[in-house]
Amino acid sequence: MAKVPSLADRVKNLKPSPTLAVDAKAKALKAQGEDIVNLSAGEPDFDTPDHVKEAAIQAIRDGFTKYTAVGGIPELKDAIAAKLKRDYGMEYAPEQIVASTGGKQCLYNIAQAILNPGDEVIVPVPYWVSYPAIIELAGGIPIYLESRAEENFAIDMDLLRSKITDRTKAMILNSPSNPTGAVYSGEDLQAIAELAMERGFFVITDDIYDEIRFDGKGPENILTFSPEAKENVIIANGVSKTYAMTGWRIGYMAGPADLVKACTKIQSQSTSNPNSIAQKAAAAALAGPQECVKTMVGAFKERGTYMFNRLEAMDGIKCVPPQGAFYVFPDVSAYYGKKAGDKAISGSLDMADYLLETAKIACVPGIAFGADQFIRFSYATDIKVLEEGLNRFEKALSELG
Ligand SMILES: Cc1ncc(COP(=O)(O)O)c(C=O)c1O
Repeated sequence: MAKVPSLADRVKNLKPSPTLAVDAKAKALKAQGEDIVNLSAGEPDFDTPDHVKEAAIQAIRDGFTKYTAVGGIPELKDAIAAKLKRDYGMEYAPEQIVASTGGKQCLYNIAQAILNPGDEVIVPVPYWVSYPAIIELAGGIPIYLESRAEENFAIDMDLLRSKITDRTKAMILNSPSNPTGAVYSGEDLQAIAELAMERGFFVITDDIYDEIRFDGKGPENILTFSPEAKENVIIANGVSKTYAMTGWRIGYMAGPADLVKACTKIQSQSTSNPNSIAQKAAAAALAGPQECVKTMVGAFKERGTYMFNRLEAMDGIKCVPPQGAFYVFPDVSAYYGKKAGDKAISGSLDMADYLLETAKIACVPGIAFGADQFIRFSYATDIKVLEEGLNRFEKALSELG
């Protein structure tokens, strides 16, 4: 028999993205003819705006189909710089910006560029599923910072201070948050910026949902409140969520020039430039008319309010009103210990399985975000679908004994 070599240690503990796995399972069941209400998706249900598609079609017609500069074409970098100026009042030169294959690659490049083995990165909990894996693949150690739903998942500054060590290299912020929909206050962001400058760590601000907020304010990040922290702040963002462009795979980062150089070098030895056609489309999205964003945000707000009101009225369910993104994160732990038939629901994985099997609702178990009391429902889907999903959810809960 042939001797087959083993895989690398680094993949042994690496778990596939649980959100993508749930979505894939729901889609497969649907394809088999099951009547699934899919509330697990992490992407807008809207179509990419027409003017963005047209820019891509034009790029193909023009033969814009070759390698580009690794970190992105000047037209895209200019559109990114203009966005950062427009929304945050911050000036970034082209050498301080890299365009990549999605916000996810930006975060991956950043981790590879800043982390030595054993370096620590503070990750507020609940966290986006990929942060721990991205940190660990770079040899770093995620240090989890717990937060409480009762405090709107705000950062506990005393707890944060207690987690900082000589090995703290960075902290990640995601506001509005996936999965909680919470937005950090300007006061907290300012305090974090001061701490980062004093203790010498980076703040990686994942602004992927920055436009999708419901208080009528424009996008904000830590630099809105503390522009003086610019050298400590690394911006990661992308066009996936704001412009309904998840499949196009364009993200971008901005930060100190030496870090940007390092990220470009890493990208040059891995994926090279992001897709040339998608770069043209992303430039059109960022520089073109922004009414499409307002329309989508208006719909998300309406759906989020509907979800929250329905969940709030359900027995035993606690929920924080969403302030942005397109997720609600209800606490379902009052139902843990109850039984479906002879099977006890002992945590969020059991709850998600129960909902998929009996009520045919796909959601993401909170444990994927480090918070087992909760489940995540996405409302990036039609309000009729949400209504049906919540009807089923309420009935499924009432059948637990
Ligand atoms: C919090 C957060 N950051 C980053 C991303 C990455 O998005 P993309 O790689 O599509 O730009 C996502 C996507 O789900 C996300 O939810």
